[in-house]
Amino acid sequence: MRLDKFISKATELSRKEAKKVLHAREITVNDEIIKDGSVHVDVLNDEVMWAGEPLSVATGSRYLLLYKPEGFECTLKPKEYPIVTELIAVPELESLRIAGRLDVDTTGALILSDDGRWLHRVTSPKHLHEKVYELTLAESMDADEQAHAIKKVAQGILLDGDYEPTKPATLEFIDDTHARLILTEGKYHQVKRMMGYFGNKVIELHRASIGGITLDGLEKGESRFLTAEEIARF
Ligand code: URA
Repeated sequence: MRLDKFISKATELSRKEAKKVLHAREITVNDEIIKDGSVHVDVLNDEVMWAGEPLSVATGSRYLLLYKPEGFECTLKPKEYPIVTELIAVPELESLRIAGRLDVDTTGALILSDDGRWLHRVTSPKHLHEKVYELTLAESMDADEQAHAIKKVAQGILLDGDYEPTKPATLEFIDDTHARLILTEGKYHQVKRMMGYFGNKVIELHRASIGGITLDGLEKGESRFLTAEEIARF
């Protein structure tokens, strides 16, 4: 399928708008920036990303929640580790795409589907779906440092290499080294980079929920289909 057609099928963009995001260098195919909409993509095997988030066109409609353990990659082309889809027992795994990847060492809620438009709604910051992260910090933060971080996170931070600050988010401290961060977007390594901004390091990271969907009832490595009510939330 032509790349511009693929983008408009996978998103809510018209073909004309798809051309604009291509020209803005926001689209990668297998990690390479592609500006030419006439390039042919293999809908099952090529990894097309828009601003770092995977795009796919619907080939069926399956909606899954996986409790991702550490040591698994959220990619179609694994480098060092097994990929998360190896944990799921459904046919045509190749057509599943992930909404909001997690790092190899991050655990928690991962949503997968083969419905591209729906996946886009899950991840798009426009829709403000909350992702709740629980984190452990390497260095403890005292009351003043915590208050400063809470205020900055609520205002938005300009992270190294980004053109736009992070969207206003909520940071809550449980104690000096444990916190909860609630985001409505998903920039590359966002949680780790945000805490890095305060000179700290995240040593454990867990995504507890996406759009209010929690991991209740699932053990690490287990998955389940989303209910109709959960699907309709996005
Ligand atoms: N932010 C990160 O830094 N890593 C993740 O895995 C998810 C969010």
